[in-house]
Amino acid sequence: MDRGVAAEAEQLTLEVSRVERGHAAAEQTPRQLPTMGLFSGVGGIELGLSRAGHPSLGLCEVDGTARAVLAHRFPDLPLHGDVAELRALPADTELLAGGFPCQDLSQAGRTAGLAGAKSGLISEVFRLVEDQRVPWLLLENVPFMLQLSKGRALDVIVTKLESLGYKWAYRVVDSRAFGLPQRRRRVLIVASLEEEPRTVLFPDDAGPATPNETADTAYGFYWTEGTRGLGWAVDAVPTLKGGSSVGVPSPPAIWMPDGRIVTPHICDAERLQGFKANWTIAAERVAAPRHRWKLVGNAVSVRVAKWVGKCLSKPRDFETHEVRRVVEGKSWPTNAWSEGGERWTAEMSEWPKRFRRPSLTEFLRHEPKPLSERATRGFLRRAENSSLRFVEGFLPAVRRHLDSVSTAT
Ligand SMILES: C[S@@+](CC[C@H](N)C(=O)[O-])C[C@H]1O[C@@H](n2cnc3c(N)ncnc32)[C@H](O)[C@@H]1O
Repeated sequence: MDRGVAAEAEQLTLEVSRVERGHAAAEQTPRQLPTMGLFSGVGGIELGLSRAGHPSLGLCEVDGTARAVLAHRFPDLPLHGDVAELRALPADTELLAGGFPCQDLSQAGRTAGLAGAKSGLISEVFRLVEDQRVPWLLLENVPFMLQLSKGRALDVIVTKLESLGYKWAYRVVDSRAFGLPQRRRRVLIVASLEEEPRTVLFPDDAGPATPNETADTAYGFYWTEGTRGLGWAVDAVPTLKGGSSVGVPSPPAIWMPDGRIVTPHICDAERLQGFKANWTIAAERVAAPRHRWKLVGNAVSVRVAKWVGKCLSKPRDFETHEVRRVVEGKSWPTNAWSEGGERWTAEMSEWPKRFRRPSLTEFLRHEPKPLSERATRGFLRRAENSSLRFVEGFLPAVRRHLDSVSTAT
């Protein structure tokens, strides 16, 4: 071990048993933060925050199909277009919230990082905040951001937040913690001018729940993959995505306990994100129905936004364990914050809560579609030529499904 690494290892060991406690500002009643939404998509963040009591002041979204949904679902709110043309935030904004575009940050995307034209739009957030320092910010993105260019993208964001006078903390959370049978990990960044953002993001920690596999367990996977990975999810669907490796937004597949291989109905996909069924129906006025998959895949799970909204209403004391210094120039951990000019992380799960989660089969209410012959054939070819390992019985089930859909047509 060279001396630098040895010193660092020593440092980590020294820090590792530290416990930190933090206190929330004493506030009696839950507060409501008037919120401006940017990159609103179909309004997952705004809907969740409003369910937690935070009134929306306005929305901002450039995509025509998403705008059709927003106009339908939030008819009374001002709806702005391109964020670059938004001159200023509403004067009474206390919370600025947005899941900025992640195409340049996601594994499926182009990995250009913040230099990419789409994710570079975070600079518009900073432009608006430079002119008007709103007390709270809530940003959301994909966890791949923590790894990209050794965490450079996140480093740029938090350094900028610090230069604007914000304290920040972030945490990866999984939608399954909120009773949704969808494995969906997302980074939530909370920044505050005056208060400690850890009093929002860190008080809750329920620890992960391992699914109980029985003969009735369904498995989710991506039929569009099969070469290097599968997105395998036990009793859940893998992350619903706005894009896919085959170029069109595509649903995942589910291997049902009765042996069928199906794709969920779009209404169940909406529910898997915490929306009511047909939340995105208005998109069909302006685009082909399949476009709704993209909108739903891009959204923030409503229940996740509601949870963070409740935590923003009433920050609480927190206790963190096994606090360690973040090592620079490496991927970021799944939670972190800044204090005393240093960056820190602690032992914390991605499950702030552990709401009762119906099994995937219990959850689905709308008739799923059998995976098509073409999709099944393509998936099987990729899977059989790959070096992936599959759970027992899975590939035989896919072959049986192929037989059944081939004879059916
Ligand atoms: C990750 S999605 C956010 C989804 C949203 N939070 C939700 O729950 O549906 C990013 C959104 O930013 C939008 N967007 C991209 N460029 C934009 C721009 N220049 N101005 C406003 N919105 C933009 C995209 O159309 C997309 O809907």
